[in-house]
Amino acid sequence: MEKFVALFFILFLYFLNAFASPQPVYDSFLQCFAQNKIPRDQISRILYSPNNPSFTTVLVSYIRNRRFNVSTTPKPSTIITPTVESHVTVSVLCSKQLGVQIKIRSGGHDYEGISYVSDKDFVILDMFNFRSINVSLEDQTAWVQSGALLGELYYRIWEKSNVLGFPAGVCPTVGVGGHISGGGYGNMLRKYGLTVDHVIDARIVDAKGRVLDRKSMGEDLFWAIRGGGGASFGVILAYKIKLVPVPPIVTVFRVERNYNENAVEAVSKYQQVIDKIDNDLFIRVLLQPITVNSTRSVRATFIGLFLGNADRLLPITDSQFPELGLKKPDCTEMPWINSVLYWANFDNTTSPSVLLNRTPDSVNFLKRKSDYVKTPIAKEGLESLFNKMVEIGKVGLVFNSYGGIMSQIPESATPFPHRAGNIYKIQYSVNWKEEGEAADKNYIKQIRELYSFMTPFVSKQPREAYLNYRDLDIGTSDNSKNSYEQGKVYGLKYFKPNNFDRLVKIKTIVDPDNVFRNEQSIPVLPVGGRKA
Ligand SMILES: Cc1cc2nc3c(=O)[nH]c(=O)nc-3n(C[C@H](O)[C@H](O)[C@H](O)COP(=O)(O)OP(=O)(O)OC[C@H]3O[C@@H](n4cnc5c(N)ncnc54)[C@H](O)[C@@H]3O)c2cc1C
Ligand SMILES: *[C@@H]1O[C@H](CO)[C@@H](O)[C@H](O)[C@H]1NC(C)=O
Ligand SMILES: *[C@@H]1O[C@H](CO)[C@@H](O)[C@H](O)[C@H]1NC(C)=O
Ligand SMILES: *[C@@H]1O[C@H](CO)[C@@H](O)[C@H](O)[C@H]1NC(C)=O
Ligand SMILES: *[C@@H]1O[C@H](CO)[C@@H](O)[C@H](O)[C@H]1NC(C)=O
Repeated sequence: MEKFVALFFILFLYFLNAFASPQPVYDSFLQCFAQNKIPRDQISRILYSPNNPSFTTVLVSYIRNRRFNVSTTPKPSTIITPTVESHVTVSVLCSKQLGVQIKIRSGGHDYEGISYVSDKDFVILDMFNFRSINVSLEDQTAWVQSGALLGELYYRIWEKSNVLGFPAGVCPTVGVGGHISGGGYGNMLRKYGLTVDHVIDARIVDAKGRVLDRKSMGEDLFWAIRGGGGASFGVILAYKIKLVPVPPIVTVFRVERNYNENAVEAVSKYQQVIDKIDNDLFIRVLLQPITVNSTRSVRATFIGLFLGNADRLLPITDSQFPELGLKKPDCTEMPWINSVLYWANFDNTTSPSVLLNRTPDSVNFLKRKSDYVKTPIAKEGLESLFNKMVEIGKVGLVFNSYGGIMSQIPESATPFPHRAGNIYKIQYSVNWKEEGEAADKNYIKQIRELYSFMTPFVSKQPREAYLNYRDLDIGTSDNSKNSYEQGKVYGLKYFKPNNFDRLVKIKTIVDPDNVFRNEQSIPVLPVGGRKA
């Protein structure tokens, strides 16, 4: 009888859909979910076909690059919005059984949109319902589900304590699932290292549909999902993190130097000192082409976070970095949570509750790339860089200082290999507002040109790149016969040889059928290269 009702239900949904365009993948998922005993009322609430009136709203809700919100962007044939773990398990089993690529999305901030775009047939597993956060003051830890956003996490910590924080990204709408599984860094990097340096447990669904924690997945897989990219290994349900102490008062500052205000001097000295200075200090530099008094030039903006008060900060910058010209009035002292708001560009009247807002004010067309700098660029080099930026037009650079504890953590501790020896990381950044292929082409050409110009100044063999600054220019895989050779091209840049090899071995064991694949996933070893 039950079987009959189920069959009837499937037929009913089928006929409902038959009036619209055919939905073979969606129909197969419907059937597969029903066969796996997911109750019907749940299925109709968690599976969206393109004919569903809410499909577009759900799809664009977590698109964070307008480049992939245009009519020509390939769309998924189904969106799955699980609310409980068994839905995730069944999603994995069904996508495996049906041979359909499954894209996992948490906060949707992937710069190349690979959590919700593909040129092959695909479905999206959208984790936004998994967003609970439980902070425990006793052991200074928290369990955070993958669909929670960093801002929500910071808020929930602050709600309980103003002397605990967490070293993760500065953009509050970034999702936990992608951010942590890809490494994660923020403005406490020099003091506390990466986000993944503070992960102590996890819950995932693996390629067999099993729900595993650290103990049951084992240390290899647990290592891989702390920087190797979750999407190659399974669906991250949640991470358990260790919180870090922050002082009751921290200091922030922002100092601007135009080209004619010794910007080159200041950036030059930044490179000499910034990886060796007090670990409580982190300084980001923005280099932006601007027009002042109708002349095109470059402005350097130094944005700082100091884990202490201004009276302790000023002697440090005065003695080691006087070219910055930091003065007491430039400094603002505030609780750590307010520094989070400051770094996210909210004005100083904004309440921390803004961190609970899951939707950013605006979304740009954008492209990003990354590099690592291991030797200071000479002044002549900086001069030529500034000129090149003016010549190119719109591309900006962001320098994030390294050193501190980053230099003490071994490269093999996590998949993220860019530790000792780096002075700073560069993010190349271009945003635009014009829609259309011509604009995309123009700005992407600009950013590639600056990247090419920087070749002599940055890391080599491999030219390193940060996984979370996703850049499909550095190589992609079609996940077919040559995927190992293809994967090596981007894999060595993101992970360097030793960590890449380890990731490949783990991948080959935990997901030999490559269920979890994308344009830059970790490849499995070719069959001939596997040990019995
Ligand atoms: C405005 C902005 C600011 C940023 N600032 C910082 C910063 O300060 N520091 C920093 O380190 N990075 C920063 N980033 C980069 C950011 O860390 C990465 O884009 C990160 O991967 C985003 O995670 P997400 O969950 O939002 O993205 P998504 O697009 O949802 O996912 C990114 C990748 O992770 C995979 N993934 C997502 N969720 C899961 C899951 N649950 N299980 C398995 N795989 C999953 C996706 O399939 C995809 O491959 C920033 C990005 C943006 C757009
Ligand atoms: C995506 O496009 C739709 C329709 O043009 C628009 O309403 C929405 O605001 C856009 N969202 C983003 C994130 O760009
Ligand atoms: C937080 O606690 C609630 C209630 O015990 C539980 O339902 C939820 O799954 C927990 N969240 C995480 C991320 O562990
Ligand atoms: C722009 O012009 C004003 C007025 O002449 C001058 O005070 C200022 O220093 C100039 N700024 C730059 C960056 O040249
Ligand atoms: C807030 O910012 C305004 C202007 O940006 C400034 O005048 C004011 O002093 C600031 N207030 C605090 C408490 O820092």
